[in-house]
Amino acid sequence: MTSARFPFLVALALTGFANSAHAIDWSKVQGKDITLLYPAQMSWELVLTQAEHSGASKFREGKNCRGCHEGNEDSSGDLMVGDKTIEPTPIAGKPGFVKANVKFAHDDQNLFMRVEFAPGKQPDAKMDPKIESRVAVMLDDGKVMEFSRGGCWAACHIDNEKMPKGTDGVSMYLPKSRNGMTREGGGVVKPADELAKIQAEGGYAEYWEASLNPGMPATVIDGIVLDKRKENAAPAVTANATFDNGKWTVEFSRKLSADANHKDIGPGKLYTFGIAIHAGHTNKRFHYVSLEKTFTVDTGNGDFIAKKAP
Ligand code: HEC
Repeated sequence: MTSARFPFLVALALTGFANSAHAIDWSKVQGKDITLLYPAQMSWELVLTQAEHSGASKFREGKNCRGCHEGNEDSSGDLMVGDKTIEPTPIAGKPGFVKANVKFAHDDQNLFMRVEFAPGKQPDAKMDPKIESRVAVMLDDGKVMEFSRGGCWAACHIDNEKMPKGTDGVSMYLPKSRNGMTREGGGVVKPADELAKIQAEGGYAEYWEASLNPGMPATVIDGIVLDKRKENAAPAVTANATFDNGKWTVEFSRKLSADANHKDIGPGKLYTFGIAIHAGHTNKRFHYVSLEKTFTVDTGNGDFIAKKAP
C-alpha cells in the first residue's frame, strides 16, 4: 500500500513545500526535550488491566500516564524493546528510546511545530524499504477524554494490526467509536450515523505524518482517527525536513483554522498531543511514542506555548 501511494505523496509534498509559509527564526523560540519510548505491544487494554499493569486502577481513578511515567521513558523503552513477554518479535540492536526537541510558534495565520531528533544507531528493519523515518503527531482539543488522559494510547489497541489480537487492516481507533469494548479490545463499531455525530462534535483525534528520506523533500499526509485512521484526500498540513549531521529537523505547519477534519487552533484552549517516530525502516507499531503532552496558544499552562513567531 505504501509503495502504491508513494508517487502521489511526492506530488502532494512538493505542493506543500512550495506553499509553505514564511520562515520562522527558530533560534529565538524556546524548545523542550521529549523522550519517546518504544512501547512494544503495551496496548490501552493492557494498561487498563490491573493484573497486567500496576498503574491501572490509579489511572482509572484519575492519574494520567505522565503522572507516573514522566522522566522514566528511557528506562521503560529499554525494558520493553527486548522483553519477549511484551515484544514477541524484537528488532536486534534497536535502541529503546529516542529524544526529540520540540518547539511551537504561530504567525496569526498558521501554527508551526518543529521536531528535531537524532534517530541514533538504528538497525534496518526492512519493513518499509522506501521510507527511512517518519514523524507523526496526533492531537486533540479536549473533546476526547481518553486522549487527554492517555495521549496516543487512546488509539492503540490490542486488536490493531500487528498487535496480539490484531487483524490485518484494523488501524488505530478511539474507544468512543465502539460499543462493548473489553480486555480483548474491539467490541462492535458504532453505526455510521452515530460516528458522524461524534465526529461533528469534534470527538476525533487529528493526525499528521511526514515521511522522511535523507536528501529528499518530506512527504506529508494528515487525517483523523475515530473508528479507524482516515486519511484526508489532500493534507492541510505541510512539512519541510532536513537531515544534517545525523539529525532530522522537521517543520510542520497548518492554518490555525482549517476544515471540519481539523481542530481549530487558537488561544484559550489546552491541546493534548503525542508524537510518534518510526526510525530504521520500520512500520506499524514498531515506532517510538511520547507520553501525552500539551500546548496552548499565546498564554496558558501547556507544556509548550505557541507564541507569535519572532
Ligand atoms: C499510578 C501510576 C501509574 C499510572 C497512572 C500509569 N502507570 Fe504505567 N506503570 C506503572 C508502574 C508501577 C509500572 C511497572 C510495573 C507494572 O508493569 O505493573 C508501569 C508499567 C508500564 C509500562 C511497561 C514499561 C515499564 O516501564 O514497566 C507501560 C508501557 C506503561 N506502564 C504505560 C502506561 C500508560 C500508557 C499509562 C496511561 C494510560 C500508564 N502507564 C499509567 C505505573 C503507572
